[in-house]
Amino acid sequence: MLARAFAKVNLTLEITGRRPDGYHELVSIMQTIDLADELELLPEGQLSLECDRSELATSDNLVLRAARVLGQTGTFRLRKRIPAAAGLGGGSSDAAAALRLLDAVYRLGLSAQQLAGAAAEVGSDVTFFLTGGTALVEGRGERVTALLDLKARWVVLLNPGLPLSTAAVFGELAPAEYGTGGVSRGYVSYLESVTPADLAAAPPLINNLEAAAERLAPAIVAARRRLREAGAEHILLSGSGPTLFGLAKDEDQARTLARKAGGLPARFVRREEALRLG
Ligand code: C5P
Repeated sequence: MLARAFAKVNLTLEITGRRPDGYHELVSIMQTIDLADELELLPEGQLSLECDRSELATSDNLVLRAARVLGQTGTFRLRKRIPAAAGLGGGSSDAAAALRLLDAVYRLGLSAQQLAGAAAEVGSDVTFFLTGGTALVEGRGERVTALLDLKARWVVLLNPGLPLSTAAVFGELAPAEYGTGGVSRGYVSYLESVTPADLAAAPPLINNLEAAAERLAPAIVAARRRLREAGAEHILLSGSGPTLFGLAKDEDQARTLARKAGGLPARFVRREEALRLG
């Protein structure tokens, strides 16, 4: 059985405080996009992972961590398309796909709550990918509320090409850069008031990690300039970066911006498509 593990962008990301366990409280609106890894599960053999990027096929890969949390075995084959440590949630999406595949292939009959519990053990962003589409994400990342899918929209992705550690960016973040969560909650009110809601009329995008990520990886500043010079108007860092995304008016503009800036066009993926297994 095969799953497409879609990437995400954060339309908003507000960090509201630091928790006693060292993690940060956040409020974010996440959206799946059509850049995707492919994960296959063959129900045979011991637990193992083959990956077309062999350096990622290590025992700490989140796919294997997810299988170990459920106490399951099998042969996973992973085809990577989403750049690693890029702010696009690739590893987390792979892990969520692994949980869903194990549940389906072995007919484990896990409840949504059991899957979410396993996801939260694997990593903060994994729970979101069990829901996909457009969703409000809170707490450490484990509290996910599905929102109605946003109207189809194209973006252009620009990855400066260096990996950036999420832990390092959170470590660099200063309390003065925290937000209130108000922008994200404004989005939720907006999304609930119009169907289907279009980002074009929505409140501004925000990411409280932008300045910290740029201090650690000045290549983000240069990439932003490239996107702006190509004609992108609304540009935001995704997650802890370093990938930037720019909103496009339509597919044509996304392709033009991608060609000019050296990026990749991508479209929003609705929940129904994000959760399909084949
Ligand atoms: O949960 P995950 O392993 O994906 O998180 C990676 C790192 O990002 C954590 O070790 C932590 O430093 C930071 N983080 C955080 N607050 C969050 C999520 C992640 O501080 N809500």
